[in-house]
Amino acid sequence: MNKDFLALSQFSKAELDAMFALCKDLKAKTKNREEHHLLKGKTLAMIFEKSSTRTRISFEVGMYQLGGHPLFISSKDSQMGRGEPIKDTARVMARYCDGVMIRTFAQETVEEFAKYASIPVINGLTDLHHPCQIMADVFTVIEHKGSYDGLKFAWIGDGNNMANSWIEAAAIFGFDLTLACPEGYDPNPQVLAWAKANGSAKIVITRDPKEAAKDADVLNTDVWASMGQEEEQKIREKAFAGYQLDEQLLALAKKDALVLHCLPAHRGEEISDGVIEGPNSVVWDEAENRLHVQKAIMATLMK
Ligand code: CP
Ligand code: NVA
Repeated sequence: MNKDFLALSQFSKAELDAMFALCKDLKAKTKNREEHHLLKGKTLAMIFEKSSTRTRISFEVGMYQLGGHPLFISSKDSQMGRGEPIKDTARVMARYCDGVMIRTFAQETVEEFAKYASIPVINGLTDLHHPCQIMADVFTVIEHKGSYDGLKFAWIGDGNNMANSWIEAAAIFGFDLTLACPEGYDPNPQVLAWAKANGSAKIVITRDPKEAAKDADVLNTDVWASMGQEEEQKIREKAFAGYQLDEQLLALAKKDALVLHCLPAHRGEEISDGVIEGPNSVVWDEAENRLHVQKAIMATLMK
């Protein structure tokens, strides 16, 4: 098993499926208020260089429920914000903590941290990947559909960190994924090349959201401007016109299709209010599952 959780591509289908099985067990124990102190006495440092609601709270609560202790560290208030090298911070933290979760900009930052830290490092979102979110998303699909096997997944919008991690998931789990992205906003080409070389999943990029939505079992979207791209908001609103996951697009999918959104959502931009609040939307289950999936990831890596 890989020491770190930086991208889904570091794991096999069997390893990720085992995390889903553990997640199901931990979710049941959480609901029944049964003690499950798998990480008793352990500590997790959580470094944030970007904002967060779900990731921060679910990791913090999750670590507490596992009997461990989480530490919130804002890069601004630590020496990292004053330029202390990542490789020094990583080696020091490994002397105090049993694991680290990082939310940052460059994927190279989490890779460098993991290289120098002898403890597990978990990617809590970079510009390239959001692997914990996709694990929660796939788990939500398993809960609602019984399995991901044979389902048709659609991504509508930006070829961003979420899209990249979905592409890795499609390759690993072997489901079909069609991504509708405007010209100039395609997913990362190296991620796409890796997926094509490492699996038999049908992964298609199209400019036509209708093509992606047609007969889909799962529809997924995300903000048009991710964290760090705020100044591109106006240009992106123009580029993404016609890429809203709205009632017309949803009507092309299977009747019982699931709608996913990692949140935060911008109603009236990437998704309509009617769709996110409608009967196909499972976004609150999806948000809750961040907690259970991440507990399974931490318990697997840090036990
Ligand atoms: N989906 C997600 O990662 O949410 P936060 O940015 O609130 O952590
Ligand atoms: N693509 C979004 C996801 C937020 C959870 C971002 O990176 O801001």
